[in-house]
Amino acid sequence: MRTVKLTETVLRDANQSLIATRMTFAQMEPALKALDEAGFYSLECWGGATFDACLRYLDEDPWERLRAIRRACPKTPLQMLLRGQNLLGYRHYPDDAVRLFVRKSVENGISILRVFDALNDVRNIEVAVDETLKCGAHASGAICFTLSPIHTLEHYVATAKEMEALGVQSICIKDMAGIMGPKDVFDIVTAFKQELSVPVVVHTHMTTGLGLMTLQKAVEAGADIVDTAIASFSGGSSQPPTETFAYAMRQQGFRVELDDECLRTVNRHFKALRGELLASGQLNPIVLSTETDALTYQVPGGMLSNLVSQLTAQNQLHRLDEVLAETPKVRAELGYPPLVTPMSQMVGAQATSNVLAGERYKTVSKEVKSYLRGEYGKAPGPVDEALRAQILGDEPPLSGRYADGLEPALPAARAHLGEGATEEDLLSYIAFPAQADEFFARRAQKQRRRLPYQVTAVADGGEGGC
Ligand code: CO
Repeated sequence: MRTVKLTETVLRDANQSLIATRMTFAQMEPALKALDEAGFYSLECWGGATFDACLRYLDEDPWERLRAIRRACPKTPLQMLLRGQNLLGYRHYPDDAVRLFVRKSVENGISILRVFDALNDVRNIEVAVDETLKCGAHASGAICFTLSPIHTLEHYVATAKEMEALGVQSICIKDMAGIMGPKDVFDIVTAFKQELSVPVVVHTHMTTGLGLMTLQKAVEAGADIVDTAIASFSGGSSQPPTETFAYAMRQQGFRVELDDECLRTVNRHFKALRGELLASGQLNPIVLSTETDALTYQVPGGMLSNLVSQLTAQNQLHRLDEVLAETPKVRAELGYPPLVTPMSQMVGAQATSNVLAGERYKTVSKEVKSYLRGEYGKAPGPVDEALRAQILGDEPPLSGRYADGLEPALPAARAHLGEGATEEDLLSYIAFPAQADEFFARRAQKQRRRLPYQVTAVADGGEGGC
């Protein structure tokens, strides 16, 4: 009997996809013990947008949140999502920051780092993977799935092999937009199982409704681990439901080593939370629905809604069809970048400006210029050379890795925060300087108000089970 392992995403991706990562630690805490007891392969609980959201919106120290989850979940490996050289932000950071970030993530409780690059440029995950391995943690290399003439089965296999050569201990095919169909995943996982020796992980979203079929075919093709979200935080732009998937797998003779009683406890908690979030308007029912437009236009749902809101703001919504026709042209000229952050914003904004200005590339954003210079990494396919020459003139594109030319980040951060700053604070500052500074100021104010003899009560773990 083959075992299928599950990663539970309620604390990170489901949280990010349904409620824009606004779940506070207090809102997750009552479910942590049952989550830990349930028997998941891992709990995805950190990284992605959680770090930014903690500092910017929730007045939480992201590092303290991680330590608190670790204390509450001593049994299950904690997993994070890392954007390679971009860490958790949108620009490239120097290697000293990447290495320290990985080391502190592991020291504070992360056991599995899923590392990806928006362009699938393996050079951009190399340093993060190397440091993960040095820290004795599990490095999982993730490949972005997208639809384009460049993104063939051969492309995915070649990228996976490059990652395997770096020493990653698993390979994930990551479908951010929920556009990977059952046949796509079956072919990719079949090829990975033939060509690779590490376990294969599949990550998708229910956005277009394909998700459960995609996971079914993934497992049939031999996928070892898949990502799901507890029922009350599943569906729509989140992951397929954990309980449903486990039920269907067991019915077909696969072993799923999850404790159903724990799953019920977890779901009861998050179902109540979902009710509160719907009532407060923090959870918009729209994100729970199935949206098949992404299959028609081949752009992710999030990008589509961004285009609509940008055009609406400029009173130009009637030109949406033109922008949607322009988008694939821009993408082709830029060498078919996967439509994932930050490329989706870049391509969408350029297509919009090409249409609204009445002249293609009349204005070009600084991001598109940097991309054409090679500052984000290597374009998956050939870039339109005439366009590159038009925008950059005879400035030669970068040949090496952009981060090779960056000054170390730690000395300046230490100079800014002072010698007494913890390494965690230095990293918060390097990742999001303005938000971190504001957070530190609020924290210092609270500490000044706190009475010296006051101690925080620590709840004891108590009885077993969940
Ligand atoms: Co995702």
